[in-house]
Amino acid sequence: MNSYKIGKMILTQEEIEARAEEIGRQITEDYAGKEVVLVGILTGCVMWLAQVMKSIELDTTLDFMSVSSYGAATKSSGVVKINKDLSGDIEGRHVILMEDIVDSGMTLEYLCKYLAGRGPASLKICAMLDKPSGRRVKIGVDYVGFPAPDAFLIGYGLDADQRYRNLPYIAAIEE
Ligand code: IMP
Ligand code: MG
Repeated sequence: MNSYKIGKMILTQEEIEARAEEIGRQITEDYAGKEVVLVGILTGCVMWLAQVMKSIELDTTLDFMSVSSYGAATKSSGVVKINKDLSGDIEGRHVILMEDIVDSGMTLEYLCKYLAGRGPASLKICAMLDKPSGRRVKIGVDYVGFPAPDAFLIGYGLDADQRYRNLPYIAAIEE
């Protein structure tokens, strides 16, 4: 079985959901009169995406991508494998990437380059957590839920070996 335990509580469900609502309202304001395509990066995005989109009052469509990074399991190598590509066309559309956490930034750097090649009208990033201590490439995150401590986090979509995504709060793991 696995050897992780749920450690210190980092963010409560109430804190995360209040912030998600704020960001949804901000997106509504920033894109007033426009239509947006929310692109969820599976699988970690699911709870955050679902929560933010509830307070987006715009014409909104949803699409998903699934990616994994080649190389060592715990550190992003920057070489990204696309397991599931977008279902729809993004040319001329306003795209917001919905991500769970930005660590090295390498996954998003790759994805932004890849998606920019398809000619979206605009491309922004909304991440639940930003871990600036892990950053290895310069990448601007347009909407950040919270800064994250330099620890491995689980819950609210975040996994450790695919588990704990269902926790309704964010905690650190204890090995
Ligand atoms: P990076 O920014 O390319 O290094 O990779 C970010 C991805 O690594 C995220 O989308 C998560 O899937 C994963 N990740 C990074 N830090 C954590 C963490 O603390 N808990 C769970 N997953 C993480
Ligand atoms: Mg991810």
